Amino acid sequence: MDHNLALDFVRVTEAAAYASAHWVGRGDNMAADQAAVTAMRDAFNSLEFKGEIVIGEGERDEAPMLYIGESVGSGKGRELDIAVDPLEGTNICAKGGINAIAVMAAGPKGTLLKAPDTYMDKIAVGPKAKGAIDINASVQDNIYAVADKLDKDPEELTVIILERDRHKDLIHQVRHAGSRIRLIGDGDVSAAISTVFDYSGIDMLLGIGGAPEGVLAAAALKTLDGDMQGILKYRKPEERERAINMGIGDPDRVLKLDDLVHGDKSMFVATGVTDGPLLKGVRFTDNGTVTSSVAMRAQSGTVRFIESQHHFKSTADEWWHKIKEDNKHNAKPKAAK
Ligand code: FBP
Repeated sequence: MDHNLALDFVRVTEAAAYASAHWVGRGDNMAADQAAVTAMRDAFNSLEFKGEIVIGEGERDEAPMLYIGESVGSGKGRELDIAVDPLEGTNICAKGGINAIAVMAAGPKGTLLKAPDTYMDKIAVGPKAKGAIDINASVQDNIYAVADKLDKDPEELTVIILERDRHKDLIHQVRHAGSRIRLIGDGDVSAAISTVFDYSGIDMLLGIGGAPEGVLAAAALKTLDGDMQGILKYRKPEERERAINMGIGDPDRVLKLDDLVHGDKSMFVATGVTDGPLLKGVRFTDNGTVTSSVAMRAQSGTVRFIESQHHFKSTADEWWHKIKEDNKHNAKPKAAK
């Protein structure tokens, strides 16, 4: 992977984060996502590479932009598979919560899993527990094996899980094994990444989340030397069919880290939209707009944290201007003195 291109992709997630940051706390998930998608696409198309979205905003007929199969980039230069989630945590952003990020991954053509926009059962851990996980084994067996590698008691382990009804039994099993749980409302890309960093206090991710988020998390865990396994979970038979047609082979097989992201030429880039443990959110300051990003390259294992001050104008500014105008328009007239 070209070194400079890796750094250029930071601009892509910065643009998406900057655009959606205008929508923080405004209660409009769709507008926040659309702002991020448009900005990300514009930024991609200003860079010289020949990309194909393999993990995107959905299928061509349901997503107007950044859909699976869409071409991005100038069309010249390196051929790359691209995975995106322009706004990971649309609910978080709409509510002004913690840990919304703009995120993408890239790899040479054929190296990122091509999967339909469906669900994935996931297990992820940091480097110390690498090799200890088996998604087909029981929750208890996984907890004991990971605890053993981390030199902890199962009671000292913390498992991060999306708070969903479908996880009731999983939560029960983790508690039965004696471990602690951190339940989160959204955002299992950063949740998977948090297993790598001691300061997060998280040892393992378990449960079903988005398949796109699974591939994105795997790209980060590749560089960070963590481990992950996933099994696609389909909402309807057509998704299963689609997975087969996309060349996945056995659509119910265990996808190991190298099946999700093949080889060591992948990269992962993310920019914070709202504050989280890994990245700060977008800040509008007197010195311009400040963004915090991370860029990871699997080949070198380099993890760069990048703090940028922007004075750019983008399409996001046009929306922002429109919001301000609308707000002025809708504002109650001041009471006469
Ligand atoms: P979006 O922001 O793309 O909606 O994803 C948020 C998220 O919480 C992901 O982190 C997670 O993988 C997925 O949704 C889980 O899906 P669901 O909310 O349908 O359970």
